[in-house]
Amino acid sequence: MQLYLDTANVEEIRQAADWGVICGVTTNPSLAAKENEDFGKILPTICDLVDGPISAEVISMDYEGMIKEARELAKVHQNVIIKIPVMPEGLRAVKTLAAEGIRVNVTLVFSVNQALLAARAGAAYVSPFLGRLDDIGQTGVALVKDIVDMIDLHELDTEVIAASIRHPEHVPAVALAGAHIATVPFKVLQQMFKHPLTDGGIDKFLEDWKKAQGGK
Ligand code: E4P
Repeated sequence: MQLYLDTANVEEIRQAADWGVICGVTTNPSLAAKENEDFGKILPTICDLVDGPISAEVISMDYEGMIKEARELAKVHQNVIIKIPVMPEGLRAVKTLAAEGIRVNVTLVFSVNQALLAARAGAAYVSPFLGRLDDIGQTGVALVKDIVDMIDLHELDTEVIAASIRHPEHVPAVALAGAHIATVPFKVLQQMFKHPLTDGGIDKFLEDWKKAQGGK
């Protein structure tokens, strides 16, 4: 399973890219709105920092608007993936864009039916939002597993991005559920490094080394 970073913050992306652990980035309008800079300036910078799929979402809710925005975004860099919500106008746009070779990540997916529709329209990726399902008392990881199983069973050419990840335990859960990709917030990526036995182990190694040096 690949890891993407779920942020529009350039400094977070720079750090995660330096650590060598991320293969792509996902953004959305809420994440872009948190930044002080114009997203039009941020997107090319992200593409320079990470040599992999970079999802950027359209704001239009009508087919013509989505297509116009998507073509503009796709011109920014060959790695830009267009994010479109799962809705009839959106999937119509997915079909057109896929025929033009523009890859789409269908977002706000909360059911196997929505994932199936997106895959049939030609989506390169589908993004089930597990955290938001957990928020309403359903099991996000189970949805990820069902979508992966459906895609595998019917040999569909769509990858599953487990999105709306809220804590480090979500990551192994979606990896074992078969997600192709997990897109994680920077905080979760930092938490993934952490284990008290690692921290304690490092302290002990350094302490023992220092003691041994003193005795020489
Ligand atoms: C990524 O593709 C999604 O937009 C993001 O993971 C949503 O996360 P949230 O539910 O925490 O806003």
